[in-house]
Amino acid sequence: MVELKTDASIDAMHEAGQVVGRALTAVRKAAGIGVSLLELDAVARDVLREAGATSPFLGYRPSFAPVPYPGVLCVSVNDAIVHGIPDGYRLRDGDLVSADFGAELGGWVGDSAISFTVGTPRPADLRLIETTERALAAGIGAAVVGNRIGDIAHAIGTVCRAAGYGIPDGFGGHGIGRRMHEDPGVPNEGRPGRGMPLRAGMALAIEPMLIASGRDDWHTAPDGWTLRTDDGSRAAHAEHTVAITESGPRILTARDDG
Ligand code: MF3
Ligand code: CO
Repeated sequence: MVELKTDASIDAMHEAGQVVGRALTAVRKAAGIGVSLLELDAVARDVLREAGATSPFLGYRPSFAPVPYPGVLCVSVNDAIVHGIPDGYRLRDGDLVSADFGAELGGWVGDSAISFTVGTPRPADLRLIETTERALAAGIGAAVVGNRIGDIAHAIGTVCRAAGYGIPDGFGGHGIGRRMHEDPGVPNEGRPGRGMPLRAGMALAIEPMLIASGRDDWHTAPDGWTLRTDDGSRAAHAEHTVAITESGPRILTARDDG
Protein backbone atom coordinates (compact mmCIF):
# COMPACT_ATOMS: atom_id res chain seq x y z
CA MET A 1 0.00 0.00 0.00
CA VAL A 2 1.32 3.41 -0.97
CA GLU A 3 -0.11 6.35 0.91
CA LEU A 4 -0.40 9.49 -1.20
CA LYS A 5 0.48 12.51 0.90
CA THR A 6 -1.49 15.76 0.90
CA ASP A 7 0.30 19.06 0.32
CA ALA A 8 0.05 19.74 4.08
CA SER A 9 1.64 16.36 4.84
CA ILE A 10 4.45 17.06 2.39
CA ASP A 11 5.04 20.39 4.13
CA ALA A 12 5.20 18.50 7.44
CA MET A 13 7.69 16.03 5.94
CA HIS A 14 9.76 19.03 4.84
CA GLU A 15 9.94 20.16 8.48
CA ALA A 16 11.40 16.76 9.39
CA GLY A 17 13.65 16.89 6.33
CA GLN A 18 15.10 20.25 7.35
CA VAL A 19 16.21 18.75 10.66
CA VAL A 20 17.95 16.00 8.69
CA GLY A 21 19.67 18.55 6.48
CA ARG A 22 20.88 20.57 9.47
CA ALA A 23 22.24 17.44 11.16
CA LEU A 24 24.16 16.32 8.08
CA THR A 25 25.65 19.79 7.65
CA ALA A 26 26.75 19.72 11.30
CA VAL A 27 28.21 16.21 10.97
CA ARG A 28 30.19 17.15 7.87
CA LYS A 29 31.52 20.26 9.60
CA ALA A 30 32.56 18.27 12.68
CA ALA A 31 34.20 15.44 10.72
CA GLY A 32 37.95 15.96 10.73
CA ILE A 33 41.12 13.96 11.25
CA GLY A 34 41.07 12.36 14.72
CA VAL A 35 37.33 12.78 15.29
CA SER A 36 35.60 9.56 16.32
CA LEU A 37 32.44 8.18 14.75
CA LEU A 38 30.75 8.23 18.18
CA GLU A 39 31.49 11.96 18.38
CA LEU A 40 29.73 12.45 15.04
CA ASP A 41 26.74 10.48 16.36
CA ALA A 42 26.65 12.85 19.36
CA VAL A 43 26.66 15.89 17.04
CA ALA A 44 23.63 14.47 15.21
CA ARG A 45 21.88 13.68 18.52
CA ASP A 46 22.27 17.31 19.61
CA VAL A 47 20.53 18.54 16.45
CA LEU A 48 17.65 16.10 17.05
CA ARG A 49 17.24 17.20 20.66
CA GLU A 50 17.28 20.92 19.82
CA ALA A 51 14.62 20.33 17.15
CA GLY A 52 12.42 18.23 19.43
CA ALA A 53 12.72 15.40 16.92
CA THR A 54 13.34 11.69 17.45
CA SER A 55 15.44 9.12 15.59
CA PRO A 56 13.89 6.52 13.29
CA PHE A 57 17.30 4.76 13.23
CA LEU A 58 17.80 4.28 16.98
CA GLY A 59 16.42 0.91 18.03
CA TYR A 60 15.37 0.04 14.48
CA ARG A 61 15.37 -3.68 13.86
CA PRO A 62 14.49 -4.88 10.36
CA SER A 63 14.30 -8.63 9.75
CA PHE A 64 17.93 -8.88 8.58
CA ALA A 65 19.34 -7.27 11.72
CA PRO A 66 20.49 -9.39 14.66
CA VAL A 67 20.44 -6.43 17.08
CA PRO A 68 18.52 -3.13 17.21
CA TYR A 69 20.41 -0.27 15.56
CA PRO A 70 22.39 1.44 18.37
CA GLY A 71 22.96 4.94 16.92
CA VAL A 72 21.06 7.86 15.40
CA LEU A 73 23.56 8.14 12.53
CA CYS A 74 25.05 5.64 10.09
CA VAL A 75 28.72 6.39 9.33
CA SER A 76 30.28 4.21 6.67
CA VAL A 77 34.02 4.69 6.09
CA ASN A 78 35.98 3.62 2.97
CA ASP A 79 34.94 0.04 2.01
CA ALA A 80 31.80 0.29 4.17
CA ILE A 81 28.88 0.99 1.83
CA VAL A 82 26.01 1.80 4.23
CA HIS A 83 24.73 1.11 7.77
CA GLY A 84 28.09 1.64 9.49
CA ILE A 85 27.59 1.74 13.27
CA PRO A 86 29.25 4.72 15.02
CA ASP A 87 32.12 3.39 17.16
CA GLY A 88 35.44 4.57 18.57
CA TYR A 89 37.17 4.63 15.15
CA ARG A 90 38.92 7.97 14.63
CA LEU A 91 38.86 9.46 11.14
CA ARG A 92 42.15 9.50 9.25
CA ASP A 93 43.59 11.65 6.49
CA GLY A 94 42.04 10.63 3.16
CA ASP A 95 39.09 8.67 4.56
CA LEU A 96 35.92 8.53 2.46
CA VAL A 97 32.87 8.92 4.71
CA SER A 98 29.18 8.38 4.09
CA ALA A 99 26.86 9.85 6.74
CA ASP A 100 23.22 8.74 6.67
CA PHE A 101 20.67 10.30 8.99
CA GLY A 102 16.95 10.27 9.68
CA ALA A 103 14.62 12.37 11.82
CA GLU A 104 11.01 11.99 12.88
CA LEU A 105 9.07 15.15 13.64
CA GLY A 106 5.31 15.58 14.03
CA GLY A 107 4.79 11.96 12.96
CA TRP A 108 6.71 12.30 9.68
CA VAL A 109 10.13 10.99 8.70
CA GLY A 110 12.97 12.41 6.61
CA ASP A 111 16.01 10.37 5.49
CA SER A 112 19.13 11.61 3.71
CA ALA A 113 22.82 10.83 3.21
CA ILE A 114 25.99 12.55 2.03
CA SER A 115 29.49 11.36 1.20
CA PHE A 116 32.63 13.43 1.75
CA THR A 117 36.36 13.07 2.31
CA VAL A 118 38.47 13.92 5.35
CA GLY A 119 41.79 15.76 5.06
CA THR A 120 43.54 15.48 1.70
CA PRO A 121 41.14 13.77 -0.74
CA ARG A 122 42.12 11.07 -3.20
CA PRO A 123 41.13 12.19 -6.71
CA ALA A 124 39.45 8.82 -7.30
CA ASP A 125 37.20 9.41 -4.27
CA LEU A 126 36.17 12.85 -5.51
CA ARG A 127 35.18 11.35 -8.84
CA LEU A 128 33.22 8.60 -7.09
CA ILE A 129 31.37 11.14 -4.89
CA GLU A 130 30.66 13.44 -7.82
CA THR A 131 29.21 10.54 -9.81
CA THR A 132 27.08 9.43 -6.86
CA GLU A 133 25.61 12.93 -6.59
CA ARG A 134 25.00 12.99 -10.34
CA ALA A 135 23.24 9.61 -10.09
CA LEU A 136 21.05 10.97 -7.28
CA ALA A 137 20.22 14.08 -9.33
CA ALA A 138 19.33 11.91 -12.33
CA GLY A 139 17.08 9.74 -10.17
CA ILE A 140 15.35 12.79 -8.71
CA GLY A 141 14.95 14.23 -12.20
CA ALA A 142 13.07 11.08 -13.23
CA ALA A 143 10.73 11.30 -10.21
CA VAL A 144 7.90 12.92 -12.17
CA VAL A 145 4.25 12.13 -12.72
CA GLY A 146 3.88 9.95 -15.82
CA ASN A 147 7.10 8.03 -15.15
CA ARG A 148 7.42 4.74 -13.31
CA ILE A 149 9.76 3.44 -10.59
CA GLY A 150 11.82 1.76 -13.31
CA ASP A 151 12.54 5.14 -14.88
CA ILE A 152 14.13 6.35 -11.63
CA ALA A 153 16.12 3.10 -11.34
CA HIS A 154 17.24 3.32 -14.96
CA ALA A 155 18.33 6.96 -14.59
CA ILE A 156 20.46 6.11 -11.54
CA GLY A 157 21.92 2.92 -12.99
CA THR A 158 22.85 4.54 -16.30
CA VAL A 159 24.97 7.23 -14.61
CA CYS A 160 26.73 4.67 -12.39
CA ARG A 161 27.51 2.14 -15.10
CA ALA A 162 28.61 4.76 -17.64
CA ALA A 163 31.29 5.80 -15.14
CA GLY A 164 32.34 2.18 -14.62
CA TYR A 165 31.12 1.82 -11.03
CA GLY A 166 29.44 -1.10 -9.30
CA ILE A 167 25.98 -1.05 -7.73
CA PRO A 168 25.47 -3.21 -4.61
CA ASP A 169 23.13 -6.06 -5.51
CA GLY A 170 19.66 -5.93 -4.05
CA PHE A 171 19.92 -2.66 -2.11
CA GLY A 172 18.18 0.62 -2.92
CA GLY A 173 15.78 3.34 -1.88
CA HIS A 174 12.26 3.17 -0.54
CA GLY A 175 8.95 4.85 -0.01
CA ILE A 176 8.90 7.03 3.11
CA GLY A 177 6.36 8.97 5.16
CA ARG A 178 4.93 8.10 8.54
CA ARG A 179 7.53 5.34 8.66
CA MET A 180 11.10 5.33 7.37
CA HIS A 181 10.66 2.33 5.10
CA GLU A 182 7.43 2.15 3.13
CA ASP A 183 6.46 0.77 -0.27
CA PRO A 184 7.57 0.94 -3.02
CA GLY A 185 11.19 -0.17 -3.19
CA VAL A 186 13.32 2.07 -5.43
CA PRO A 187 16.12 -0.01 -7.04
CA ASN A 188 19.32 1.65 -8.20
CA GLU A 189 19.22 -0.10 -11.55
CA GLY A 190 16.31 -1.16 -13.70
CA ARG A 191 14.36 -1.04 -16.90
CA PRO A 192 12.64 2.15 -18.04
CA GLY A 193 8.85 2.07 -18.28
CA ARG A 194 8.53 -0.74 -15.72
CA GLY A 195 7.23 -0.86 -12.17
CA MET A 196 4.77 1.24 -10.22
CA PRO A 197 3.49 4.41 -11.91
CA LEU A 198 4.56 7.57 -10.10
CA ARG A 199 1.74 9.73 -8.76
CA ALA A 200 1.58 13.15 -7.14
CA GLY A 201 1.79 12.74 -3.37
CA MET A 202 4.24 9.84 -3.39
CA ALA A 203 7.32 10.37 -1.22
CA LEU A 204 10.49 8.43 -1.97
CA ALA A 205 13.94 8.14 -0.45
CA ILE A 206 16.23 7.86 -3.47
CA GLU A 207 19.70 6.58 -2.56
CA PRO A 208 22.36 5.50 -5.04
CA MET A 209 25.30 3.52 -3.61
CA LEU A 210 28.35 3.18 -5.86
CA ILE A 211 31.35 0.85 -5.62
CA ALA A 212 34.62 2.17 -7.06
CA SER A 213 35.90 -1.12 -8.51
CA GLY A 214 32.84 -1.68 -10.71
CA ARG A 215 31.90 -4.90 -8.86
CA ASP A 216 28.50 -5.35 -7.23
CA ASP A 217 29.31 -7.82 -4.43
CA TRP A 218 29.00 -7.02 -0.75
CA HIS A 219 28.70 -8.77 2.58
CA THR A 220 27.47 -7.95 6.06
CA ALA A 221 30.22 -7.34 8.62
CA PRO A 222 30.31 -9.35 11.88
CA ASP A 223 28.46 -6.48 13.65
CA GLY A 224 25.36 -7.60 11.72
CA TRP A 225 24.75 -4.14 10.20
CA THR A 226 27.65 -2.72 8.22
CA LEU A 227 27.58 -3.54 4.50
CA ARG A 228 31.10 -3.83 3.09
CA THR A 229 32.37 -4.33 -0.44
CA ASP A 230 33.68 -7.86 -1.03
CA ASP A 231 36.81 -6.65 -2.81
CA GLY A 232 37.65 -3.94 -0.26
CA SER A 233 37.24 -1.12 -2.74
CA ARG A 234 35.67 2.12 -1.59
CA ALA A 235 32.00 3.04 -1.84
CA ALA A 236 29.96 6.25 -1.78
CA HIS A 237 26.30 6.92 -0.98
CA ALA A 238 23.95 9.88 -1.39
CA GLU A 239 20.27 10.14 -0.50
CA HIS A 240 17.39 12.58 -0.50
CA THR A 241 13.77 12.32 0.55
CA VAL A 242 11.74 13.57 -2.40
CA ALA A 243 8.02 14.24 -2.92
CA ILE A 244 6.48 13.81 -6.36
CA THR A 245 4.21 16.78 -7.10
CA GLU A 246 2.26 17.99 -10.12
CA SER A 247 4.91 20.67 -10.54
CA GLY A 248 7.87 18.26 -10.35
CA PRO A 249 10.07 16.62 -7.73
CA ARG A 250 10.39 18.48 -4.42
CA ILE A 251 13.51 17.69 -2.36
CA LEU A 252 12.46 17.58 1.29
CA THR A 253 15.96 17.14 2.77
CA ALA A 254 17.77 19.93 0.87
CA ARG A 255 20.68 21.55 2.74
CA ASP A 256 22.16 25.04 2.69
CA ASP A 257 25.57 23.58 1.84
CA GLY A 258 24.27 21.90 -1.36
N1 MF3 B 1 18.86 5.47 5.15
C1 MF3 B 1 19.09 4.12 5.55
C2 MF3 B 1 18.13 3.20 4.88
O1 MF3 B 1 17.17 3.65 4.32
C3 MF3 B 1 19.25 3.99 7.00
C4 MF3 B 1 18.38 3.11 7.80
S1 MF3 B 1 19.16 1.87 8.64
C5 MF3 B 1 19.12 2.21 10.29
O2 MF3 B 1 18.34 2.00 4.81
F1 MF3 B 1 19.00 1.17 10.94
F2 MF3 B 1 20.17 2.82 10.62
F3 MF3 B 1 18.07 2.87 10.60
CO1 CO C 1 17.00 5.45 3.21
